Amino acid sequence: MSLLDKIDKNRLPGHIAIIMDGNGRWAKARGLERGEGHKEGVSAIRGVVEAASKASIRYLTLYAFSTENWNRPSEEVSGLMDLMVHAFYRETADLKKNGVRVRSIGDMNRLPEHARTALEDCIRETAEGTGLTLVLALSYSSKWELAAASRKIAADAVKGVLREDDIDEKTFADYLTTRGIPDPDLLIRTGGEQRISNFLLWQCAYVEFYFTDAFWPDFGEETLYEAILEYQRRERRYGKTSEQIE
Ligand code: IPE
Ligand code: IPE
Ligand code: MG
Repeated sequence: MSLLDKIDKNRLPGHIAIIMDGNGRWAKARGLERGEGHKEGVSAIRGVVEAASKASIRYLTLYAFSTENWNRPSEEVSGLMDLMVHAFYRETADLKKNGVRVRSIGDMNRLPEHARTALEDCIRETAEGTGLTLVLALSYSSKWELAAASRKIAADAVKGVLREDDIDEKTFADYLTTRGIPDPDLLIRTGGEQRISNFLLWQCAYVEFYFTDAFWPDFGEETLYEAILEYQRRERRYGKTSEQIE
């Protein structure tokens, strides 16, 4: 019996988010440059997207580049941007064929022109997809997002579009870049670190965490299914008692 067959289709995590960490250490362990690790890391995305589609996951969010990652050496940053641009041009046709719809979250204004164009082309090309929604977090950080949302709320309040009493959890969520996307059910972090690194703080209020020592380039179909199976062994109580859940 394959791992996919063991997954209970009635209890799938609707939304899986992944902090794809460990490219640099994957490369170092092989005596390679960090850039080689990023290259392998970008390749690994394809298998995981296909595996998520095969398991009928509705939303997959990948943390590809954080606001803080802009502080890395400039050659590493530009290398990463180039890898992403190539990946968009290489993968868009297949994503479209497989019904994947691509979206992005983050501060796209900070992306270099060629990266922004490649991303926008991919989003436009795949807009009609009805299968997996692939959300790419690029130049993203949660504190940036929360501050931006607060500014927009303040501006709408000043304009009189929004009344103070209207600002509840639902309205607030509509001002985030994840508007319309359900909160993640399962958050996976590869690479052995157990931290959230400024990712989806609001949206992860009730997420299930799954940490694995595997470096991102080594993560694939089977490891994704192991994470889903572990998720299915958990009981999500949302503050209630176990008896209430049964
Ligand atoms: C994750 O791998 C990729 C990005 C953050 C862009 P890292 O580059 O952080 O790899 P490590 O953590 O140094 O091994
Ligand atoms: C988190 O990885 C960001 C991404 C995976 C894009 P980092 O490697 O940048 O995280 P920290 O700095 O170790 O927390
Ligand atoms: Mg890292």
